[in-house]
Amino acid sequence: MSSIQTSSSRSLSARPAITASLEARTGLDDEVLRELVHAFYGKIRNDSVLGPIFAARIDDWPPHLERMTAFWSSVALMTGRYHGAPVPKHVGLPIDWGHFERWLTLFRETAKEICTPAGAAHVIERAERIARSLNFAVEDARGTGIPNLA
Ligand code: HEM
Repeated sequence: MSSIQTSSSRSLSARPAITASLEARTGLDDEVLRELVHAFYGKIRNDSVLGPIFAARIDDWPPHLERMTAFWSSVALMTGRYHGAPVPKHVGLPIDWGHFERWLTLFRETAKEICTPAGAAHVIERAERIARSLNFAVEDARGTGIPNLA
């Protein structure tokens, strides 16, 4: 039957197959994620606490929105489209866990407006996990007085 694959065809098709199954399960694709990113950063820019932090660092929004769409494509659909290092970009920002909680509140709200229930649950679960680890990495990078041996 046509389901028989050689190991090389399996490895070549591994990423698209994973992406296709995630898309089918969540109703997400790059178009929905682009819409989510645009709507989310629209709210962020209007937020009295987070807006000024972004405004101080981002002059040119379209490239940031494209980068964030690639990030969410990689995170939610495993497309490998994002190549970057988020932690150093956040280390110098005037943020603590309270800012991450506010970021997450706006993200959850937007995800529920834009995505299917399964899609919203999928991106929210990932956002919560990444926010926690980003907050931890930022605190760690700022240092505790303990020498970094890495
Ligand atoms: C306290 C909340 C947050 C604030 C104030 C914040 C702020 C920013 C700012 C200002 C930039 C642009 C930095 C630059 O280009 O110099 C940025 C980039 C980015 N942020 Fe955040 N962020 C927050 C939370 C998050 C969370 C929770 C995620 C992931 C779920 C995230 C993912 C990213 C990514 C992927 C980039 C692009 C990094 C690159 O240039 O490759 N951020 N953020």
